[in-house]
Amino acid sequence: MIYRHDVLVVGAGLAGMRAAIAAQQHGVDVAIVSKVYPVRSHSNAAQGGINASLGEGDTWESHAYDTVKGSDYLGDQDAIEILAREAPQAVLELEHWGVNFSRDETGHLGTRNFGGASQARTYFVADITGQALLQIMFEQLVHSGLKMYNEWFVTSLVLSENRVVGVLAIDMRSGQLHGITAKSVVIASGGMGRVFEPSTNALICTGDGMAIAYRAGAQLMDMEMMQYHPTTLKGSGALLTEGARGEGAYLLNAAGDRFMKTSAPNKMELASRDVVSRAEQTEINEGRGVDGCVFLDCRHLGRDLIMTKLGQIHELALELAGVDIVKDPVPVRPGFHYPMGGIKTDVFGETSVPGLYAAGEAACVSIHGGNRLGANSLLDTVIYGRRAGEAAAEAAANLAGEDVSDSAVRDEERRIQDLVDRPDRGQFAAKVRWDMGIGMVTNCGVFREQKGLEACGDLLHDLKERYTQVHVGDKGRVFNTNLLSVLELRNMLDLAEAVQVTALTRTESRGAHTRTDYPERDDEHWLRHILLEYRDEGPAVSYRPVTITQWEPQVRTY
Ligand code: FUM
Repeated sequence: MIYRHDVLVVGAGLAGMRAAIAAQQHGVDVAIVSKVYPVRSHSNAAQGGINASLGEGDTWESHAYDTVKGSDYLGDQDAIEILAREAPQAVLELEHWGVNFSRDETGHLGTRNFGGASQARTYFVADITGQALLQIMFEQLVHSGLKMYNEWFVTSLVLSENRVVGVLAIDMRSGQLHGITAKSVVIASGGMGRVFEPSTNALICTGDGMAIAYRAGAQLMDMEMMQYHPTTLKGSGALLTEGARGEGAYLLNAAGDRFMKTSAPNKMELASRDVVSRAEQTEINEGRGVDGCVFLDCRHLGRDLIMTKLGQIHELALELAGVDIVKDPVPVRPGFHYPMGGIKTDVFGETSVPGLYAAGEAACVSIHGGNRLGANSLLDTVIYGRRAGEAAAEAAANLAGEDVSDSAVRDEERRIQDLVDRPDRGQFAAKVRWDMGIGMVTNCGVFREQKGLEACGDLLHDLKERYTQVHVGDKGRVFNTNLLSVLELRNMLDLAEAVQVTALTRTESRGAHTRTDYPERDDEHWLRHILLEYRDEGPAVSYRPVTITQWEPQVRTY
């Protein structure tokens, strides 16, 4: 069956929903397709808040400068200026839609400190900000009445004469493959966190949108820039929000020292994430940690503050690690959190493939550059989601469009059936995926060096070989999650390779990319982005200069 729309948004997290709402307001026919029900999207897991220079004395320029500095000067400053300028309006819009932001004692919107920010400009709903935003955005989506294909898994983009004309997607309930024709497609399917193990990300974060866009010819950018969040829980890797440090929690080593005084004497625990994660990993590597961790100490914040503002992380620490943060420091370590890189777009969400747009974590505008500031990601979703939706709608309004062909559907059905029919040779998706995740954290972690990155390349080559043998045990059609995990794994392996290749290529240290064999930032050679294009034989690398509007690179200290 072929369905038809003007604009199709792939992904129903915050960026996808915001894009769909914006596109529909432009008077075109819009649909949204998502592999999970929208309110189960990973935006749900964002805890700490959303940045905007709404406070007295704060300015968009200050927010923009902090973001540029946070990015270690790799962020494109034209895109960062847009983000910071539009932030106050975006946050007020969310409040007017009904987000119940936490208030201060005067009844005004409250702020908390966040890493790398020169002033408190993070607006929040306790430590469930993403969940609060997602529910309200979903109300807007339902109100809009647009078509939702929930629990449909997009397997590929369809192109005609190099232009995107739609997607192919499995309706998971029936197992049936369909074509969805669209004049513009917006990829807003989130990140790729499960390429790494452990990760703060939900199991659904398998980079599907990024990978299908990449294989369809879209460029990826900044893929070496992978963020490790400083406070992920020992064992599970669950996120314990930076909001805890924003409220005043400390980081301690085995001796009880606040070790951040060495690497960030001014900002201490509220330096940018790359700086804090490096400091923690150094403590751990040099024997001043405990069992591969340091400690997050919230005790002095007191029960009342913890239960009012940090209730979710109290529950997570108690349930997953058996630690009551009111009474005891909790063991944490740097854990994979967020890709700064993704599908390269301009400031209107346009990618290098005509008809294809991207927004949110799947995209790279690049506003985050080498390191994203906490609470800039929710902001990214609503601002660049809206911009991509608007641009996609404007383009669609002027196009005749072309249907996804029946032959495209048939070819994809054959490809999927071939996967299902593979004989059992003892290779399982879960095991390949696990080996990939551990290999990526080991070799493309907080610290990297040539030998490890090359070993990672060999590992990924081997895993891609094993992938050709991976077996689908479930031969049924209805909710065949076994088949989906095999399709997801292919996406993850392509993205893992993109990370490894770019990390090996960038022979300097910048932001989250720390090469122990090239410890200095090298602006002369590396004030530029690395772009990748998909090739069957391995990614093709090219470069693009960083856009600088008003902030020349400086030595970066906190
Ligand atoms: O720590 C946090 O609450 C995460 C926020 C973010 O990644 O923006």
